[in-house]
Amino acid sequence: MINIPTLKSFSKQDVLQAIKNDEIVLISEISEHEFKILCREIGDLNDRYGEFYDVVDTGEDYKTTNIPISQTREDTGVHTDSSARDYCPEYLSLFCANQGAFGGESYFVDMRSVFNDLKKYRPELLKYLSQDFYRDVVTPGAENNLENVRRNKFPIIRHDDSGLLEFRYMRYWIERAYKKLSLEHDLDSAHLDLLDSGQLDLLDSYLMNDKYRSTFMLKNNQAVIFKNSYFPHGRTKYEENKLNRRRLIRVWFDRMNW
Ligand SMILES: [Fe+2]
Repeated sequence: MINIPTLKSFSKQDVLQAIKNDEIVLISEISEHEFKILCREIGDLNDRYGEFYDVVDTGEDYKTTNIPISQTREDTGVHTDSSARDYCPEYLSLFCANQGAFGGESYFVDMRSVFNDLKKYRPELLKYLSQDFYRDVVTPGAENNLENVRRNKFPIIRHDDSGLLEFRYMRYWIERAYKKLSLEHDLDSAHLDLLDSGQLDLLDSYLMNDKYRSTFMLKNNQAVIFKNSYFPHGRTKYEENKLNRRRLIRVWFDRMNW
């Protein structure tokens, strides 16, 4: 379970203080307009996908196109945002404009607790995850060719003696990168062997464990703000109808205005 403080006041100072303390915060009873004003006040917004990016079902299939899984109704799986080596938002926010008809619960994992337990009980897994892994290239504007996939390589976990520095993970994009490179015979066997589904299954078993994970429904007019690499997150599969089309708004912060 994660302690997620809930704020009803959303002054810039209160929100920044709460984020500083817990690195995750839930805000209730905030309108879309107020949310957008607050975001501009508390940080610098990234505009790779537009500053305020609608998370809605596009009707497309992420398995046959390059769209993010968030643009479908499927379970996203536990992940951190951005699979691009050169860009990772430090904080991100999700605002719920319409929660949809059924499903679509949000979940968050306390990665620092997972890290501490891996250090104690699974140091070999930690070592494995500290290696560079390829990721598929899905960032808008970046050409999806093998050369770019080969360049898009970085560790799942970075840490030092002080603790967890960074966690960056979306299994689907990692597996798709290895599949593409192996189909093109672009990797020697030593590189291909790096992808060990047993090790990733073990990581996933930690990420899905309720000891570290909190699940809740993000309701209409609620927003959550959190540190990307400390709180890997996801959303369960959902359904919608004409009256209840699910729509969330996502914001990536390059820097907070502390
Ligand atoms: Fe996400």
